[in-house]
This record gives sequence, C-alpha cells and structure tokens, in this order.
Amino acid sequence: FNLSRRVDAYLGEYLSEKSKVKGSFPDFSLARTSSTGSIGTDEGLFEQPEPLLSSKVVVEKILRRRSLEMLDQQQTWQESPEGRRMLEFGRSLPAYKEKEAMLTVISKNQVVIISGETGCGKTTQIPQFILETEIESICGAVCKIICTQPRRISAMSVSERVALERGEKLGESVGYKVRLEGMKGKDTHILFCTTGILLRRLLADRNLKGVTHVIVDEIHERGMNEDFLLTVLKDLLPHRPELRLILMSATLDAELFSSYFDAAPIIKIPGFTYPIKSHFLEDILEMTGYRLTPYNQIDDYGQERLWKMSKQAPRKRKSQIVSAVEDALRAADFKNYSQQTRESLLCWNPDSIGFNLIEHILYNICENERPGAVLVFMTGWDDISSLKDKLLIHPILGDPNQVLLLACHGSMASSEQRLIFEEPEDGLRKIVLATNIAETSITINDVVFVLDCGKAKETSYDALNNTPCLLPSWISKVSALQRRGRAGRTQPGECYHLYPRCVYNAFVEYQLAEILRTPLQSLCLQIKSLKLGSISEFLSRALQSPELLAVQNAIEHLKIIGALDEIEDLTILGRYLTILPMEPKLGKMLILGAIFNCLDPILTVAAGLSARDLFLTPMDKKDLAEAAKSQFSRDYSDHLALVRAYESWKAAEIDLAGYEYCWKNFLSAQSMKAIDALRREFFSLLKDIGLTDGNATTCNAWSHDVHLIRAVICYGLYPGICSVVHNEKSFSLKTMEDGQVLLYLNSVNARETKIPYPWLIFNEKIKVNSVFLRDSTAVSDSMVLLFGGSISKGDADGHLKMLGGYLEFFMKPAVANMYLTIRRELDKLIQIK
Ligand code: CDP
Ligand code: MG
Repeated sequence: FNLSRRVDAYLGEYLSEKSKVKGSFPDFSLARTSSTGSIGTDEGLFEQPEPLLSSKVVVEKILRRRSLEMLDQQQTWQESPEGRRMLEFGRSLPAYKEKEAMLTVISKNQVVIISGETGCGKTTQIPQFILETEIESICGAVCKIICTQPRRISAMSVSERVALERGEKLGESVGYKVRLEGMKGKDTHILFCTTGILLRRLLADRNLKGVTHVIVDEIHERGMNEDFLLTVLKDLLPHRPELRLILMSATLDAELFSSYFDAAPIIKIPGFTYPIKSHFLEDILEMTGYRLTPYNQIDDYGQERLWKMSKQAPRKRKSQIVSAVEDALRAADFKNYSQQTRESLLCWNPDSIGFNLIEHILYNICENERPGAVLVFMTGWDDISSLKDKLLIHPILGDPNQVLLLACHGSMASSEQRLIFEEPEDGLRKIVLATNIAETSITINDVVFVLDCGKAKETSYDALNNTPCLLPSWISKVSALQRRGRAGRTQPGECYHLYPRCVYNAFVEYQLAEILRTPLQSLCLQIKSLKLGSISEFLSRALQSPELLAVQNAIEHLKIIGALDEIEDLTILGRYLTILPMEPKLGKMLILGAIFNCLDPILTVAAGLSARDLFLTPMDKKDLAEAAKSQFSRDYSDHLALVRAYESWKAAEIDLAGYEYCWKNFLSAQSMKAIDALRREFFSLLKDIGLTDGNATTCNAWSHDVHLIRAVICYGLYPGICSVVHNEKSFSLKTMEDGQVLLYLNSVNARETKIPYPWLIFNEKIKVNSVFLRDSTAVSDSMVLLFGGSISKGDADGHLKMLGGYLEFFMKPAVANMYLTIRRELDKLIQIK
C-alpha cells in the first residue's frame, strides 16, 4: 500500500511537470553538453526511471523489485563483520537514541527541526535512518533524500563517510554534488550537495520532482543561501504535500525556525562532552611565562599588516565590537596576576593574532602534554598558510617525524581531507590549522587541545561563495563555546583562548544572520532568476528580513551595473550573472573579457581580486620590496601590475623556478597558486556557459592590448569610480559620494605625482577616518563613457550614480552633454539594455 501510494504521488508529479511548457530561460544548451557537465542548470540532481513508457502497474513492479534488492543488500551488509562494526558505531552516537522518536515525528509532520551538539550524528546518521526505514517498508526505490551543506568540503567528506558506513563505494546509494564536481549514479538515494547546488536545481525544477526528503543542515549558521532556501521551500511545501523538510542545527535555539514553519516540532538530541578546561590569555601568560612584545616591534605577518594599516589610518576605525572589546580590556581587573602578565597584556593587540604566541603554545603542548590532536582555529586561508609556513621551519613543530601538520579550510584537496580524520601513528602529534569550518561542520574525534584565536571571517580565497572579503571580526559566545567543545569528544580536553576572559565576556551572544549584514546583490539576482516576484516583497517574507535600505541599495546597484532594468527585470547581462556563481562585478568583467578576446589578463584580474596580499612588504626590506614591485607597475594600474607579476611568475614556473621567483620578487607564492587555481576555475565556468570555446589563441587575440584591458576592468568595477584632479605638484581624488578620497599606500598609483588619465576605477573603498581606495586602475573618458554602467532614463531624475550623473557632476555641461549624446547613439546602435 505504501509503495503504491508513493508511486501515485510520484507519477502525478511527473505528469504535471511534463505537461508544463518549459520556461523561457536563456538557452543553456551549451551547458548541457559541457565537458564537466556540472553547471547544473538543467541537470537533474537525481536520475529518474522513465515512467511514461510503462503503465503504473509495471512501474510499481520495477520499483518493488528494486526496493527488495535494496533490502537484501542492506541486510547482507549489516550482517557482515565490518557492517556490524559500523552499525555498532552508529548506535553509540547520541542521535541513535532519538531514532524512533525522530522517524515518527518526521512521518507525521511536513517540517521537523532537529538540534543536537556537533558530532552527535545528525549529518551522517539521520539521512541513513530515513533511507533504512524506507527500505524496510519496501519503499527504498522511491526514496530520494537531498541533504544540503553550507560548504563543499563538508558535502564531500560526509558523503564519503556515509558511503563507508553503508559498505558501498561513493556514487552508489550515497553521492555528492558540489560545483564543478560530483559523484552520483542512477541508484543514488542520499545526495549531499551544497546549498548553492540545490538553489540552482530549483531554477530548472521548481517542484523538486521525485525528491522525497530535503534536509537543510547547519541552519544555525544563518548563511545567506540557507535563509534564502528556507523561504523558497516554505513556498513550495503546500504544492508538495508528500515532501518532507528536515532542518538540522548544532545549537539548541531552534524556536525561531519552528515559528517560521507554523510551530513545527523540535527534537533535541541530548549531547555529551567530557569536561574541558579553559585557559584565557592571562592564564596562558601566567602558565607559560610567555611575554607579549609590543606590536610595533614585531615582524609577525599579521602584526606587520596591521602596522601598515595603522600607519595609514590611525587608530580610529574601530567597529563597535572592537571598541566594546577595548572597553572591556580597560575595565578588566588583572590584579591577581603577576606584574609580568599585566605588562604583557598591555601589549596585547586585539586586531592581530600573535603567531609567536601560537607557536609557543603548540611547542609547549608537544613537549609537555599528554597525547592527543591539536585543533587551531584561525581566521582564514591566508593566515593558516602563513602560520603553516612559520611552523614548518620550527625544529620540533616542523619535523614530520614528530608532528603531522595539516590545514583544514574550504579549498583544500580531498587527499588532505582524509588525513584530518585519521588517527596518526603512535608518537606523532596531529596539529590541524582550521577555519571556522571545523567549528560545527567537521568533527575530528581525537582532538584534545583547542587553540581559539577568537575571530572569524569568510574565507577571502573563495570568491565563488558570493561573499565579499571581510576583515576578521570577533566571534560570538556561542561560536567560542562550540570551538571549545571540539576538545572534549573522546576524553577530557583543554581550550586555549588567545584573548583575555574580559574580552570573551564582551562577545555578542549570537552572530547576526548573514542576510542582515552583507550586501544583497547576488541574492537579489537569484530571486529574480527564480522568478519569485518582487525582490522586496519576497525578502519581507524571509526568516528575518533585511533592512529595506539594504534591499534598495542592492537593487539600485544592480540597475547601475546594468543587471536589472528599470522595472527590476533581469537584463540579458543579469541572466548571465545569475548563472556565474561569483560577485557580479567579477562576472561582468569575465563576460566582457571573453567577448573581447582578452581573456588571460582578465582571468588574472578577477582571480587576483579574490586572493589578497600578493605583493609582500616585509618591514625590514621595504625598499627592496618596493623596487621589486615597481618593475611590474608601469601602467598606473594595480590590476595590470598584478597581471604582469602573474605572467612573469608563470614564465618562471615553467622552469620550475616559481617559488624562487616569488621569493626574489617579494610575491606570495601561496597567493600566486590561489590565483592560478581560481583562474582555471573561472575559465571552465566560462566554457561551461559557452562564452568561450576554450581555444587559447582566439580567446587571447587581444590580450596584449593594455587599453582594452583597462576598458574591461572599467566595465567590471564601475561604479567604483573617482575623478583625478591635478594641482601643481600632485593630484587629488574625488568621488561623488565621499568628496576627497585617498589611496592605500601600497597602490602603485600612490607613488605617482601625476596620472595621465582623468579617472581612476577601483574595486573597493574602505572608510577608516578618511575614505581609502584599494587597488585602482587609471582610465580615460572614452573608456568610462563606453564601459561605465547604463545611462538609462533614471539618470536625469536623481539616480546620480548612473553614468550620466557622474559625467554631469565632473564635467563641463557642454562636454558632458556631448558625451551623453554619443553614448545614447551608441546604445541605440548596439541596443545595450
Ligand atoms: O552532524 P553532526 O555534527 O551531529 O555529526 P556527524 O557529522 O554526523 O558525525 C557523527 C560522528 O561520525 C562523529 O562523532 C564523527 O566522529 C564520525 N565521523 C567520522 O568518523 N568521519 C567523518 N568523515 C564524519 C563523521
Ligand atoms: Mg553535521
């Protein structure tokens, strides 16, 4: 009966889908035939048997036979010695105790929320519980579970683990799908994918045909994609009464989600951790006798960067949280500590992680503490790699016979991933340097010591996450507790907080949802491409709605860059931007680079905008470093300097001298490699959507043309534009919104006294006490005129940032008018919408 009911539902959906005319989204036939086949706009997440060929009875027979086979297979595995061991392991996890309760609630409710501490078995066990139950009731063959993960690495590692637990190869009943990679087959019943992949799937298949269960994992992180997905799914539920939605969270505050889904039931899995000792900075100093050095005397990587920033922009730029921390520090009472500790704390710099201190603690653990892995929470990929470089030259910590030093971040290789979970050989100390990915998504069982730097940022390497680069900021209390909890999985542990206790007390309770704190442009594009109606109306129905102003800003920006038209519909450009999973400005630049056949340099610029700090300036070798950089900077452009540096490195790399080249020229080899990898990724994306045929010669026919490259950069970075005003000795810069602005000292343009172009185009401005521009490129009037944003009707009535407004603001009226007339004629000619 059960199976027959399922088959009915399944056929019903299938037919209603078939009868609908396919939407008229741009032709992605090229995507379908792509080499990687993974852009995923029209590729199903699960393959379906073709029910229309057969009658319902036949379909039912096929599915029943398949379900019985699955049951047989499952029983054989569970009776084998290895299978039994896996079963035992699963049963030892806290999630198992709630298994029956969870399954009953899931069968009776369309939406269920499950919360439980990290490592209790939510991600690996719950999808299996569901599948096993379906198999036992002979419905295995129609059960299709999608489980979303915020990050690709967790989707990959978890699927591998679940396949192992089921005694199968990855790609059989358990698979994964992340952008540009995947492993799944026609018999895949549990699919782990990134949230982005499921959103993309919804583009092509609004009703998630054939899917029986959607599990949204890690909802406590409140990522933008997850929040967005929940709103979309909420709309879908009434149309798919059979579909089950399960939300999983690592923290226990699930009420918000429950009330969003009409008081959906919450199941709490009780957790267990061994006791953990906390050491705050003052305790660590007291314990180890370590002395912090005043930060202007340290040449630590992080410290040095900070020093550079503070020289350019004296101490005022503090965010609210930082000043709360500083207040806390001032008010704190350290009278029970030694004089030395008190003095040391005065030198503590809340803006920077002390690598020397971390090294000292790690060394201390290796020498004096009992066995057990160490997990170090760092802010991002760049800090991890610099720390790793530093540790590798340490006599003990860098010795592979004593220490297994691993990095764990969003872009690491799968081979490296496996080592993280494995227990090392006897006598070897495992040290894992991780981003906040190890906070809840990934569980490393043998961790006994945790070092927490107290900060987090979105990894600036992965531009494809759509997140702009953020400065590291203090984590919340909940995060700090999560990090600490990683130490007590299998035995009592210890946590070293690299900040004073009073600072912990000043942390906010919870992190604000991403949707409430980051720009919404990409989200707005997604709303439009999913045809979800008015952007502001849709966002008003979100779990927590962003401020109206933030929404308006995003829409305005998208209009300025020409992705939306006046009535907020997607333009052709907008449509392409929705399928390029990266910041719109990078997408725009790449599209034009491909169209104008100057792809190589533009790939480098786009990749370089995501990888920070390519040019290094060690404090003691500043002059040498600047001299090295000046050989690349002859074009009044930081972006072109980057292109030149990359190309010279690439040439040296062919002779296997890439590392040496970086060393001699004060370039970061890590950033170079990151740029190289990202370039390849961008290139295959462009190939996937058919913007380039991948022929290296044709798509670079104009790559030597510096003017063209400037123009394309201008196209991508507009409206980041300021006017260059020359005076006798030098020049000043003005934007329309901020008035006078300044250049970061490390910009190649900061060293010039004259810039032979009227405009600078920049990718980012940061308000400190004045407004500072990061990397910039000088461009001419005609480049701005042709490649600045659209000059649609809006510009006359107050949309100042539209190109027309800019020209009128900075030029003589007659000249501005002339330019605008030319541009209008051109627009008519080539029909730019
Ligand atoms: O999702 P949740 O944090 O509740 O836990 P999980 O990821 O399902 O992990 C449950 C258990 O499986 C953990 O205690 C890990 O030790 C183990 N596991 C593992 O050994 N290897 C993996 N790749 C993933 C999980
Ligand atoms: Mg999990």
